[in-house]
Amino acid sequence: MNILILGSGGREHALAWAVKQNPKTDRLIVAPGNAGIAMLAECADLDPLNTAEVVGFCEDNAIDFVIIGPEAPLAAGVADATRAAGILTFGPSAQAAQLEASKGFTKAICDACGAPTAAYARFDAAEPAKAYIRKMGAPIVVKADGLAAGKGVIVAMTEAEALAAIDDMFGGEFGAAGAEVVIEEFMTGEEASFFVLTDGVNALPIGTAQDHKRVGDGDTGPNTGGMGAYSPAPVLTDAIADRAMREIILPTIAEMARRGTPYQGVLYAGLMIKDGQGRLVEYNARFGDPETQVLMLRLGAQALDLLLACAEGRLDRTQVNWAQDHALTVVMAAKGYPATYQKGSVIKGLDHIAATSQQMVFHAGTAEKDGQICANGGRVLNITARAATLAEARARAYAMIDQLDWPEGFCRSDIGWRAL
Ligand code: AMP
Ligand code: GLY
Repeated sequence: MNILILGSGGREHALAWAVKQNPKTDRLIVAPGNAGIAMLAECADLDPLNTAEVVGFCEDNAIDFVIIGPEAPLAAGVADATRAAGILTFGPSAQAAQLEASKGFTKAICDACGAPTAAYARFDAAEPAKAYIRKMGAPIVVKADGLAAGKGVIVAMTEAEALAAIDDMFGGEFGAAGAEVVIEEFMTGEEASFFVLTDGVNALPIGTAQDHKRVGDGDTGPNTGGMGAYSPAPVLTDAIADRAMREIILPTIAEMARRGTPYQGVLYAGLMIKDGQGRLVEYNARFGDPETQVLMLRLGAQALDLLLACAEGRLDRTQVNWAQDHALTVVMAAKGYPATYQKGSVIKGLDHIAATSQQMVFHAGTAEKDGQICANGGRVLNITARAATLAEARARAYAMIDQLDWPEGFCRSDIGWRAL
């Protein structure tokens, strides 16, 4: 079959890598893609947010299956448009993607289905929000309701910080995303991510992961999109995962279906784990980045069969073939990230690293120039390895990094520390 993947990051490189290995794949196109993706698939210059352009491209290229990587095309209704055009699609409708696009919506769903999550209140004006903060005290969490590129959450350790966050949000710092805020109880525990495919009725867990959001070793410094990840997450035991399925995931899927907006795609639940129970921190309506890099290295070619079963509503008859393995990815970023950084530096040594089913360099922000691979973003490479133990996977990933010659890049030296 002919397959189109929308997106351009390490997540999409990992998805393309897994899909490419499945014999069902004839033609594989990624739009817009990056320099690493171009080594295994065709890249198309297509705007993933332009629904008419995406549908037209699918028709012109006889695309049989579309896989949507990032949240923005989902929220823009690309999955609605491709499905309406009769094209098999992996990813939720714009209505269902509200589970990521609106924090208030997700809270209302949790209320309706009884899913455990932080206590909260919603506000559309600053003064009542501030009064609530003064009443509840700190620590407390202030969230812009809408999509804010991962920056719309302020975990305030003091009341003053929380009040300042309210001023920023209603002052327009996050644009329309901050026109409404959710204020939440601060939860303690250990965070982990749970990935579940759902066809709207049935649900199939496909793995767990933990990421490292802070830029510096020891989880210090500013937040980033993620500096590394590993799978499985030891803190998310089978018992806690089963309980999260019963208490959170299945009730959410049932509530979405009951409202006439069934959710089809991957439900990525961020859980706060404490005393044998996970509580929902947030949902994402897409795969995680860089979590997908470790999940795909573990799943391999079967990933396409799983995504197809999800899109075709066959998850009740589908199983994951698990290997007893561990995968770990280290993000290499351009120096300066997550603040300002330079683009265009040349990355050498990539050809010293073999691409195998045990190890892959997934490209995030790269471009090819005169036959050389150059940095073209903040997060640039995802050095990913798989082994029988997490310690071995980590040793292999850092050994791969030693092969690289890229003085303008950096990475954390302690990915996986919490699990090791
Ligand atoms: P979110 O975008 O909702 O995942 O929030 C980003 C990060 O903020 C999460 O990964 C948590 O580390 C933290 N966070 C969000 N909500 C809470 C909460 N209610 N209590 C404690 N930490 C939180
Ligand atoms: N790594 C966090 C995310 O994809 O949202």
